[in-house]
Amino acid sequence: METILITGAGSGLGKELALQYANKGYHILLVGRTLEKLTDTEKEIITNGGKATSFAMDIGDIDQVEKWTATILKKHKITHLINNAGVGYFGPLTSLTNRQVDEMIHTNITGTINVTKTLLPHLLAHPNTKIMNIISTAGQKGKVNESVYVACKYAIRGFTESLIKELEASSTSVTAVYMGGMDTPFWNNAPGHIKDKSRLRTPKDIASTIISEFNGQAELFV
Ligand SMILES: NC(=O)c1ccc[n+]([C@@H]2O[C@H](COP(=O)([O-])OP(=O)(O)OC[C@H]3O[C@@H](n4cnc5c(N)ncnc54)[C@H](OP(=O)(O)O)[C@@H]3O)[C@@H](O)[C@H]2O)c1
Repeated sequence: METILITGAGSGLGKELALQYANKGYHILLVGRTLEKLTDTEKEIITNGGKATSFAMDIGDIDQVEKWTATILKKHKITHLINNAGVGYFGPLTSLTNRQVDEMIHTNITGTINVTKTLLPHLLAHPNTKIMNIISTAGQKGKVNESVYVACKYAIRGFTESLIKELEASSTSVTAVYMGGMDTPFWNNAPGHIKDKSRLRTPKDIASTIISEFNGQAELFV
């Protein structure tokens, strides 16, 4: 059974990707900070006849990532990594607290790099492995009141494009996925930034399009 590790799998897009990939027969390793959210997803997958295992960690903390990865790799062969976890705080730059700025950089940039760097030797050691980085249209152009979030997504776009070149001769593919707004708990941190999040696309719809169109290409626009 092929195994996919998904970060931020306790809600939103990560949860939908987990549920839908599990329905396709993949074993899902669910990663996030809140164990309860992960085990809720895990229970839903198991109820649907699928297989999933939860690992609570803060991906921005390299010690936690390295410790958990060592434990995970004793039991599992991972074929796909989906770097999906992300946080956003919005408003004029001066309105953001230093803590909010740190959290965005810690999760969106450092976390994505930590997980990728730690799992890469394992992925490179196996044939046809895949890395998918969930970016955003925020990684394509600047937006008012989104300066630090956009900076993080540009960073991950640069990280992804560079890894694609670095791993060109390997059997590990790297894909940047770009999408617009989704109706997820992501916006709970941003009261007022989006007028009516229920008008955005559902994570279910985005996950299903990603899964049907993903084939290890360099870029996927959803
Ligand atoms: N919603 C949108 O409109 C939209 C549009 C384009 C792109 N995106 C991107 O899509 C991805 C998924 O977002 P979403 O909309 O599904 O939001 P979401 O429901 O808030 O999901 C993000 C997940 O990341 C986890 N997470 C946050 N910080 C973490 C950390 N340090 N370590 C481990 N897990 C962490 C959260 O769980 P815990 O808090 O329990 O850790 C949460 O389950 C993000 O990269 C986001 O930037 C979102």
